[in-house]
Amino acid sequence: PALNPDDAKRLAAATALDLVSSGMRLGLGTGSTAAHFVSLLGERVAAGLDVLCVPTSERTRIQAEELSIPLSTLDETPELDLTVDGADEFDANLRLIKGGGGALLREKIVATASRRMVVITDSSKFVETLGKFPLPVEVNLFGIEATRRMIARAAAGCGCSGEIRLRQGADAEPYLTDNGHYLFDCRFGSIIDPNGLALALRAVPGVVEHGLFIGIAAAVISAGPSGVDVFGR
Ligand code: A5P
Repeated sequence: PALNPDDAKRLAAATALDLVSSGMRLGLGTGSTAAHFVSLLGERVAAGLDVLCVPTSERTRIQAEELSIPLSTLDETPELDLTVDGADEFDANLRLIKGGGGALLREKIVATASRRMVVITDSSKFVETLGKFPLPVEVNLFGIEATRRMIARAAAGCGCSGEIRLRQGADAEPYLTDNGHYLFDCRFGSIIDPNGLALALRAVPGVVEHGLFIGIAAAVISAGPSGVDVFGR
């Protein structure tokens, strides 16, 4: 029987749970796939698994708290063993686009503070070339129109162009991240030089962080109709 995307996400999450053992310090991702992982982890914790976890968003913190998963902060626990998180896109080089759920800054800080980051996805997130999913870029509130133009120029230098749209929240106000910043969603269509674009975006002063994760994920666990595929290690 065909696996629907939500079942695939849960299967990827269940596969990642095998990487967890007692005593580990874990980073908990954000999004619907990561939420499956947190829920399955909660069952294991209730059954006696001993872990200490740092969430990547307020949303994930609330979910983990409800499941009585022991929580810490990155200030108290600055080095983690493993972070498990979702992604909006991944390519064959384990490069990712993240931030569809708005949590990219904390996700990148937590993943980078971990010895290992493992991505869990359904197989529809695989792409030959990143960029079909609009690239989220977190920006400071000051001077956002100037920052938007600088992002457009930086992207053009890397062969990228397309609409750069300020993300809207539920209340017709701009969406605010957990860190009190705005997000631009950049519809570049096809990012031919992700490494160059990552560097160029970082050079824009108003950019706090962008959703390209390069050289961070060690493995991607991807579940789909044909079962579970693991890329990387
Ligand atoms: C959150 O900011 C994102 O990086 C998520 O990890 C990403 O959007 C994947 O979300 P889903 O698991 O809901 O597809």
